[in-house]
Amino acid sequence: MRVLVTGGAGYIGSVVSARLLAEGHQVVIVDDLSTGHADAVPKAAEFHQLSIAALDPVLGDWAIDAVIHFAAKSLVGESVDEPAQYWRNNVVGTVALLDSLRAHGVPRIVFSSSAATYGHSDQQPIREDTPARPGNPYGASKLAIDLALADYARAYGLAATSLRYFNVAGALIDAAGDSYGERHATETHLIPNALRAAAGQGPALSLFGTDYPTPDGTCVRDYIHVRDLADAHLLALRAGVPGEHQIVNLGSGAGSSVREVLATVGDVTGRQVPVNEAARRAGDPPVLVASNEYAASLLGWRPTLDLTAMITDAWRFEQRGR
Ligand code: UFG
Repeated sequence: MRVLVTGGAGYIGSVVSARLLAEGHQVVIVDDLSTGHADAVPKAAEFHQLSIAALDPVLGDWAIDAVIHFAAKSLVGESVDEPAQYWRNNVVGTVALLDSLRAHGVPRIVFSSSAATYGHSDQQPIREDTPARPGNPYGASKLAIDLALADYARAYGLAATSLRYFNVAGALIDAAGDSYGERHATETHLIPNALRAAAGQGPALSLFGTDYPTPDGTCVRDYIHVRDLADAHLLALRAGVPGEHQIVNLGSGAGSSVREVLATVGDVTGRQVPVNEAARRAGDPPVLVASNEYAASLLGWRPTLDLTAMITDAWRFEQRGR
């Protein structure tokens, strides 16, 4: 297929682009480089520095078979302070993208949705029919796009799949030795922050909350390797059905606490992570674990790589710098 990847200069977009190329697909990346990195774009991909809202004049010339849509603002805290950016970039931008797809007859889309659509839920593991009650504008923007995709699929015959990721970690180091991983200017995620603290390249890790109603008092999350995640995107490209919108959770089906993650970082790096126990971070649910049964039945997908593999690959990536 000739696949358009929006946000292909970002973390997950660059990994998926590299995997698509390795599988023999052609990849056209658009990214406005507002948060992505030009040097994260795989060398074999065609690259255009463009916003998703500006594709209409050019899309007709590109002969695209399918879109994988990652381009988005993705910081939960920032979304609370600056919701307009999330509604404009994520929601309004995606509606413009969908209208461009319609105008130029692009028949299928796989969308990077999020566990943030579910918000706090007493129901664990979270299934796709768990009520979606996002707790912040970031999650609300992803849910709004999921709803738009359902309508566009039904009314305009689009084949649409929303993949709701839980906590993505790890990196891809390919056969050519090129590596793709997490390099956010503002890093909020646990594993890269813990690795930097362990390496002495960042401050001590602030452990947000030790009094949650969980076995060791710290938050439990469902971590998934970005390479497993990439495989799910490739499967979803093939599984889409015209006129239908599918929502699929992607997680391991099991949770790890923050303390368990820090212990694994210690094992992998051989260095203890310096930790400051801190107050809870606003908006963090105590537990978020995915049911991945639907992903198994719809896509034939199961995760294959564990937390140690994620942290080992993320550590290799951190040490290479790219
Ligand atoms: N944490 C720390 N210290 C840090 C960073 C994180 O203690 O420096 C804790 C958090 O409080 C949380 C856990 O580690 O309990 C995981 O935090 P992350 O920021 O790595 O991930 P989140 O679970 O907050 O975020 C993920 C996705 C988001 C998505 C969200 C849904 O990365 O995109 O799940 O809740 F919105």
